[in-house]
Amino acid sequence: MNDIALAVIGGTGLYQLAELQGPQAHQPVTRYGALSGPIRVGMLDGHRVAFLARHGEGHAHPPHLINYRANLAALQAIGARRVLALNTVGGITGRFGPRVLACPDQLIDYTWGRISTLCEEPGTEVLHVDFGEPYTRELRAGVLAAARAAGVDLVDGGCYGATQGPRLETRAEIARMRRDGCDLVGMTGMPEAALARELGLDYACLAIVANWAAGAGPDVDEVITLQDVLDNVAAASAGLPALLRAL
Ligand code: HPA
Repeated sequence: MNDIALAVIGGTGLYQLAELQGPQAHQPVTRYGALSGPIRVGMLDGHRVAFLARHGEGHAHPPHLINYRANLAALQAIGARRVLALNTVGGITGRFGPRVLACPDQLIDYTWGRISTLCEEPGTEVLHVDFGEPYTRELRAGVLAAARAAGVDLVDGGCYGATQGPRLETRAEIARMRRDGCDLVGMTGMPEAALARELGLDYACLAIVANWAAGAGPDVDEVITLQDVLDNVAAASAGLPALLRAL
């Protein structure tokens, strides 16, 4: 099988990659059960690229019930080695306002009760993978270089805090996350990143800031609406096709 140059996992507001030419649907069976939906594999500038909507194409799977293991195992089964995760997030600190694109370099996991390892399967070896640097350095460098080449503004670095959801956070929770050192908050960054490491996949996150997190923006009383989130994701994603082509 021709290798897949890049697999892209789309988050909230990003359910397809319209630029893919001749997309074919793949839905391999994995030992971890069903994935979120079909993987669409097509050509982008002469390279095979796979796209999977993390929440399903109809946004049916909430963050805590996504079968992260099946999604990543299925991408690997069809030949993906490098995964670019698109994650819709809230911004906590100054550089990460709405419509900013960022490539975080650290994360803190606040999720609970999610299956966060492949080591639970009977007969599997227990792994203690190194996770000091949770995103693959070379892939991050590639994403940053691609953004420069494509003329897309992308913030280099930042700490992604992964929360349980599906509700948004309280102001006190965001204040605590700021004290902890988080710049961004989202609900899907973990366990995906850790599972990718266990599977030996290269993995980087491209975070799309949809809103100021609770109490983090200039208007502390601002109510976050889904429409604002979707509008900002759509606006911030305008440069994504050029970035992906360059990558
Ligand atoms: N918090 C958590 N996840 C999010 C947010 C947020 O404010 N915005 C988009 N995804």
